[in-house]
Amino acid sequence: MKIAIPKERRPYERRVAATPDTVKKYRALGYDVAVESGAGIDAACTDEAYSAAGATIVSDTALLLRDADIVLKVQRPMNDAEGRNEMGLLKVGALLVGMLNPYGARTDLDLYARGQITSMSMELMPRITRAQSMDVLSSQSNLAGYKAVLDAAEQFGRAFPMMMTAAGTVPPTKLMVMGAGVAGLQAIATARRLGAVVSATDVRPIAKEQVESLGATFVMVESDETKQAETSGGYAKEMSEDYKRRQAELIAETIKKQDVVICTALIPGRAAPNLVSEAMLKSMKPGSVVVDLAVEQGGNCALSEAGKVVEAYGVKIVGYRNVPSRIQIDASALYARNLLNFITLISAKNEGRLAIDWNDDIIRAVALTHQGAIIHAQFSSV
Ligand code: NAI
Repeated sequence: MKIAIPKERRPYERRVAATPDTVKKYRALGYDVAVESGAGIDAACTDEAYSAAGATIVSDTALLLRDADIVLKVQRPMNDAEGRNEMGLLKVGALLVGMLNPYGARTDLDLYARGQITSMSMELMPRITRAQSMDVLSSQSNLAGYKAVLDAAEQFGRAFPMMMTAAGTVPPTKLMVMGAGVAGLQAIATARRLGAVVSATDVRPIAKEQVESLGATFVMVESDETKQAETSGGYAKEMSEDYKRRQAELIAETIKKQDVVICTALIPGRAAPNLVSEAMLKSMKPGSVVVDLAVEQGGNCALSEAGKVVEAYGVKIVGYRNVPSRIQIDASALYARNLLNFITLISAKNEGRLAIDWNDDIIRAVALTHQGAIIHAQFSSV
C-alpha cells in the first residue's frame, strides 16, 4: 500500500505530517511512501532527506493522491468551497488521517462519506494509557504552552526574572495561567524557568497538586460543583452561571496584580470559557500582556482577536493563530511520531497493509466515516 504526505495548504500551517525519520519507519513496515515536493520545507525536512529515507518525491498533488491508500495530513484537506479541492483528489476508499476538526468542520464528514473516504480524526484520541503515544492534543498543546510564554516575553517590555543590579532591582514578573491542562502546565514550567512568580487557576481540583508541584500557586473557587467538573476523559465541563460569577470575582481580584496572563482554558466541542473580561483588562497595569491560546475557539479574553496582537487600556493582547505551528519543527516531529504510532497500531506487521480492528476502543473513538457512512457515535445522529 502507498502512504502519501501532501503539502499542507491552509493558512498559518507550517507543520508536516511525516518526517524523514517516520518515513524510514513506514518503509520498514512495508509501505511505499510518496511525499509532495516541498511538503516539509517549513519544518526543516527537505525533499532530499525524505528521498534518502526511502520516499518518492512527487511535485503534483493530484498525481500524489490518485493512487494513495493512506493520506497523512496535519489539518483537514481543503474543499471546493475553500478554493482548492484537495478533498476531490483523494482516491475512493482511501484512509485519511489527520486533525480533521470534526466539531468545527462537521459538514466535512458528509463530504468524506460521499467520497467513500475512511476518515480518522486524531484529536478524538481517547485519554487512555495505551493511546498516550498517539495523543496529538497533548503533544501539540505542550509545545503551544511553552511558545505562549515566549510570545508573552517578546511582547512584554520588562524582564521575567528578578535582577539585582548596581542600577537597581528589577522585580520578577507576576504571571497567571488560566487553565492548568497540558498547555497550562507547560506554560507554568516555562515561566518558572524564566524566573516569573506564577499562579494558575482551573475548575478541576486535581490540577491543584500538579500546579503546586511545579512551584506555582493555585487559585480556584471550590464548590460541590467542582467535584464533578471533570469528565471521565479528563476534560473540563461547562460550569453553572453561579460558578462562573464567583470565578469571575476571584479572577478579577487576582488579575489586577498580574503582569502577564496566559489563557489556555478549553472545553472540548464547545466555545472556550470567557474568563478575562474588558473590565478586568482595564484593571491591569499598563504594559501588561495577555496571550490567548484559546482565541481560535472563541477566546478566554473578551478583546482578543485571532491572528492579531491588539492593545486595549495599555494591555497587549496576543491572539496568534495555530501556535503549535509557530514552533513547527518540534511540533511536526512529535505529530509525525503520534501518527506513526497510530499507523503501526492499524497495520499488519511488516506487510505494508492495513489491518484495522474496528472493535478497538481507539478506532471507535477516532473513526468518523467508513464505506460511505458516518460511523462515529457522536456525529452520526447530528
Ligand atoms: P483542554 O485543552 O481541553 O483544557 C485546558 C484546561 O482548561 C483544562 O485543564 C481545563 O480543566 C481548563 N478549563 C476549562 N474550563 C475552565 C474554566 N472555566 N476555568 C478554568 N479552567 C478551565 O485540556 P487538556 O490540557 O487537553 O487536558 C486536560 C487534562 O486531561 C490534563 O490535565 C490531564 O489530567 C488529562 N490528560 C490525560 C492524558 C492521558 O491520560 N493520556 C493525556 C493528556 C491529558
